[in-house]
Amino acid sequence: MSWKRQYVKLCDVADFGDPQLCAAVGEIEGRPAPRALSERKQWERGMLALALAERGSLHDEAAVLAIGAGTEPVLFWLANRVGMVTATDIYGEGKFAAVEAAESMLRNPAAFSPVDYRKDRLVVRHMDARCLEFPTGSFDAVYSLSSIEHFGSPQDIAGAAAEMGRVLKPGGIAVVVTECLVHLDPLDRAPVEFALPLGTLGRRRRTATLRRRVALGEAFTPREMESLIVRPSGLQLAQRLDVSLSPQSWDNLTTVHPSGRLEAATGRLDPHVLLKIHRSVFTSACLVLHKLPAPAPGPA
Ligand SMILES: C[S@@+](CC[C@H](N)C(=O)[O-])C[C@H]1O[C@@H](n2cnc3c(N)ncnc32)[C@H](O)[C@@H]1O
Repeated sequence: MSWKRQYVKLCDVADFGDPQLCAAVGEIEGRPAPRALSERKQWERGMLALALAERGSLHDEAAVLAIGAGTEPVLFWLANRVGMVTATDIYGEGKFAAVEAAESMLRNPAAFSPVDYRKDRLVVRHMDARCLEFPTGSFDAVYSLSSIEHFGSPQDIAGAAAEMGRVLKPGGIAVVVTECLVHLDPLDRAPVEFALPLGTLGRRRRTATLRRRVALGEAFTPREMESLIVRPSGLQLAQRLDVSLSPQSWDNLTTVHPSGRLEAATGRLDPHVLLKIHRSVFTSACLVLHKLPAPAPGPA
């Protein structure tokens, strides 16, 4: 299938004025379309909405699964456009329990919605992404925004990707948005981090192992996205990953300090897309994948 736009790409400030993205984000947030996006989250949701629309997944028979969904507003937007949305997350547990994964989402999702929505089209379930409690081939579309990087070890992430591919119907579409390293400095690579505690009498980065980065453990290189998400999912990338970035994306390179404080190069946080931790830089990447349709039955 040919697509009207490049979806499999990095978040880029050059996209932020795109009228279709702005219109989608306005609808999702229940307000007039902004003239330009102001943050990565909007880009992530807008890209999802446009990919699902272009693929023809927004119709009254469609079953859509959201994984690591938290209380994201796109759930409610979808409930007005598809047959059924199932939101899953480990609500009330883990480090996001007091923020994105509030336990009350299970009982009162309407409290989180920025729009009126069809209440009978949204189901919210407590479920671990690594073990989805659905039969194989249950959903027309599956997606996960800014979550898969938080699912645990590389094995956990690959297992969750396999689950995502399993529950998708043949011919279905999956959209995964995650953190992608645009530049991984040699000094931030896992073996170097592993060696650092030895050289610093164990004072720094104690949990580094030979395989796992600590500071940047929740961001993937393009190669890791391929080996931990695309390949284990058993799905096909809809397009090649475009890792190019416009020069203007670099204008507001934003440093994440060890305290979590953000320091933007321009002094203004919005819009920023590129984040720097230590010497390495990352941003969001959107992956659109599809499951090959089931082969037509041969002659009897
Ligand atoms: C950064 S939040 C993103 C939430 C939401 N997708 C959004 O964009 O606002 C990451 C989410 O992943 C969820 N999560 C972490 N580990 C999980 C797991 N094993 N299974 C399901 N969800 C998980 C967290 O509870 C949290 O809601």
